[in-house]
Amino acid sequence: MKKEYKPVHGMWTSRWVFILAATGSAVGLGNIWRFPYITGEYGGGAFVVLYLLCIALMGIPIMVAEVMLGRRGGLSPIHTMSKLAEQSKVTRRWAGIGYLGALSGFLILSFYSAVASWALIYVWEAAQGVFQGITAVQSKAHYEDMLANPWLLLGSHTLFMVITMGVVALGVKQGLERAVRVLMPVLFALLVVLIGYASTTPGFAEGVGFLFAFDFSKLSGEAVIVALGQAFFTLSLGMGAIMAYGAYMPREIKDKSGRSRPVSIVSSVITIAVLDTLVALGAGLAMFPLLFTGGLEVGQGPGMMFVTLPLAFGQMPGGLLFGTLFFVLVVCAAWSSSISLGEPMAAWLVERGLGRGTAALAVGLAAWLLGVGSVLSFNVWKEHEFLVGTFFDNIEFLSTSVMLPLGGLLIAIFAGWVMKETHARKELAMKSFPLYLIWRALVRVVSPTAVIALFIYSLWSVLA
Ligand code: PHE
Ligand code: NA
Repeated sequence: MKKEYKPVHGMWTSRWVFILAATGSAVGLGNIWRFPYITGEYGGGAFVVLYLLCIALMGIPIMVAEVMLGRRGGLSPIHTMSKLAEQSKVTRRWAGIGYLGALSGFLILSFYSAVASWALIYVWEAAQGVFQGITAVQSKAHYEDMLANPWLLLGSHTLFMVITMGVVALGVKQGLERAVRVLMPVLFALLVVLIGYASTTPGFAEGVGFLFAFDFSKLSGEAVIVALGQAFFTLSLGMGAIMAYGAYMPREIKDKSGRSRPVSIVSSVITIAVLDTLVALGAGLAMFPLLFTGGLEVGQGPGMMFVTLPLAFGQMPGGLLFGTLFFVLVVCAAWSSSISLGEPMAAWLVERGLGRGTAALAVGLAAWLLGVGSVLSFNVWKEHEFLVGTFFDNIEFLSTSVMLPLGGLLIAIFAGWVMKETHARKELAMKSFPLYLIWRALVRVVSPTAVIALFIYSLWSVLA
């Protein structure tokens, strides 16, 4: 017998709350930690161009599709997809998109928490003045010492997972809404301060050059698939986070005069994508000059943010305050993202009858456990490499570079080919017909072709 699931999670109070929550999900470690370090590893400017193309041609159209599917279904991604499959008279196997997404969210949450916990430790240290007057060599050694201490990392990982699942347990609407409203603007302001500082250092021109000079000879097949994965990762796409948030988006909202207005999906999505891109580029602008100034390698790897920024805070006036504040904001940005990683699976469990608290606890415990593997990858298990690297490297690569693009591809195919066009059009309610046609062409042809082509190209060049 088929069971009908009812929406039980509540709704955002306005379009802006949706934008804030989705921006909270999008802006996170992906922008401040991951974007700069992979750009460093994969050669700079050419990688950035590729990444921006992926955002424009795949990220934005697929994000529109994800929000649209979510709002139409009104449920957790798994139930949304099976409901929409039924409406479209196709097999319920399409719910697989939801299951795949919940699984990727869970994998990402596990290593995301492990990395966010470094930022948590840095808040504490920045406040104590540990970074004052630090040199490039000392900063690198300091970061490595932290990683060599598994107990410290485990404690911090535990704390981060508790605060994440705590919010999920409370329901997303309460704390999150207010938090993002204040935090995002402050994060922007601090990034501007950091870029300002970076521009006074001797390595500024070289840093900017690295970020924006296009040397396409540096591109490899691996770089291509990493850029693609990063575009999905940074916009929180391909795993249902945005679909889940879209499900809490109202269709119409009353304006001040009491008239109902449709809530536009496309303009919301563009706002989110632009903000996310600005934060990523800003983070790159703030960090690369410091690498060049300090004579550090560009291909630092995951430690890049943790090695470079203390240098800035150690030198600039007010560095103690700004440094502490900055790492607090990184933790908050990571926090609002990790909540959205846990939400799809928790919401699914809630619809199946679990209490919110129990659901959050179950997801949190499992992700915590898996995350221990990532924590240990930087110390005890450092030498255990298989497939693409350590345990952490493998979880990160599989979830981000393989599962997210795959999820995004399936979402695009469902929205563009499987779902009834009238349904999609009604849900999007776009004022401009040409714009609608552009979206449709992107989501039907351009995004799927590009994802498949990039997959094949990178697979072929990795094997060759
Ligand atoms: N977009 C987040 C970031 O850039 C990470 C994330 C990925 C969050 C997928 C939710 C879903 O940090
Ligand atoms: Na992001």
